[in-house]
Amino acid sequence: MTSSARGSAAAWDARYAAGSPWPQGPNVTVHEVVAPLPPGRARDVACGDGRHAVWLAGLGWQVEAVDFSAVAVERGRRTAESLASEGALPGSVTWRVADVSADRPEPASADLVLLAFLHLPPDQAMAALELSAQAVAPGGLLLLVGHDRTNLDHGTGGPRHPEVLTDAEVVTTALRAAGLLVERAEVVTRPVEGADRPALDTVVLARRPAE
Ligand SMILES: C[S@@+](CC[C@H](N)C(=O)[O-])C[C@H]1O[C@@H](n2cnc3c(N)ncnc32)[C@H](O)[C@@H]1O
Repeated sequence: MTSSARGSAAAWDARYAAGSPWPQGPNVTVHEVVAPLPPGRARDVACGDGRHAVWLAGLGWQVEAVDFSAVAVERGRRTAESLASEGALPGSVTWRVADVSADRPEPASADLVLLAFLHLPPDQAMAALELSAQAVAPGGLLLLVGHDRTNLDHGTGGPRHPEVLTDAEVVTTALRAAGLLVERAEVVTRPVEGADRPALDTVVLARRPAE
C-alpha cells in the first residue's frame, strides 16, 4: 500500500468500520493538561471516533470535532447522542467530516485546540498545524500529543514510518512562527499495558498571547 492510500480517508473508514481502534477515555497527557481548565470552546483536530471530543463535552466544553473519516465521525456522533439522551453530556459536540490539512477553522474561535495522534506527511502536517494555530483564541491553548520520532526505535506502538512521526522542535518552530508562545515542549514516557517498553510521545503546549 502506498503512503497516500495507507493514510486515506477510505483506509481510515475501513479501520473504524472494524471497531474502535483506540482505548476509551482521554490520553493521559490530554487529561493532565485539560482537566484543570475551565470549560470553553474546543476544536478537536482529527478527532477519530471522539474519545476526546466526548470527554470534553462531558466536562461542559462546546466542541467542534473534525475528522476526514465519515465512519469515525458517525461513531462519535452516536456516542455523544446516546450520552446526551441520558442527560450525561453537559457540553456539546458539533461533528464535521473534513481534511484538517485544508479545512479553514474560524480564526480565534477556540480556547483549546487539540491535536492528538494526528500523523501526516510533513507538508500536510505543517498545513494542519498552521490552520490549527489560527483557530486558537487570544489566551487560548493548543495541545499537540503525538507518537514521537524517537518512538520508532525506542518506544512502543504508533506508525512505523518516520516521516509522519512528530518532533517537538519542528512543532515548536511552526507554532512560534504562527504567533503562539510555547509553554511546554518535550518527549513524555507513557506506560503501555503488556508492552516491554513505554511509548514516547511528543507533547507541545502553546498559548496565543492574550490581547
Ligand atoms: C490515530 S487516530 C487519532 C484519533 C483521535 N485524535 C484520538 O486520539 O483518539 C488519527 C486520526 O486522524 C484522522 N486523519 C488522518 N489524516 C487526516 C486528515 N488529513 N484530515 C482529517 N483527519 C485525518 C484519521 O481518520 C484518524 O481518525
